[in-house]
Amino acid sequence: MKLRLFLSAILIALVSSTMIRAADTALEKEMKVVKNAFNQLKQQAADPAQNTSSLALVAKIRAAAKSASSLEPEKTADLPEKDRAAFVADYKDEMKTFIANLDKLAAALKAGNNADAVKIVSDLKTMQREAHKEFRKSED
Ligand code: HEM
Repeated sequence: MKLRLFLSAILIALVSSTMIRAADTALEKEMKVVKNAFNQLKQQAADPAQNTSSLALVAKIRAAAKSASSLEPEKTADLPEKDRAAFVADYKDEMKTFIANLDKLAAALKAGNNADAVKIVSDLKTMQREAHKEFRKSED
């Protein structure tokens, strides 16, 4: 009986903490699209038999990145007013470079050049790490 009470308390705590968590920002929603498509792309970029599907994944990531580039990172609001414009401009530049790399990736896949495609996927992963360090709010 006590165990059941204990388990109910845990369940209630879990459910309410999920409800309290702030809703995703518009940018987070786009990033989730990028993440899902990118995870699949990493698994198949080397395989020429999947190039049509890989191209569709690149198009999906590109569209999400394109709409992400018209948004502003949450971190912007934490910066002093005087630094915000430059921060957002840097973010947009980085997104532009990211999209340019996606276009290179599409060209490599279209040409059936999977060795290049794999290399570009790894560059995109590096860009993700660096961009997140700079533009993503640290978890609090
Ligand atoms: C392969 C590339 C990338 C992947 C897989 C990726 C994935 C993600 C994921 C999973 C999140 C967290 C979403 C959530 O909390 O629900 C996120 C957040 C974020 N990402 Fe990316 N990302 C990538 C590239 C980039 C690039 C290139 C930039 C910037 C130019 C960027 C900027 C951000 C920012 C600013 C956030 C925080 C969201 C906010 O401030 O509202 N990401 N990303």
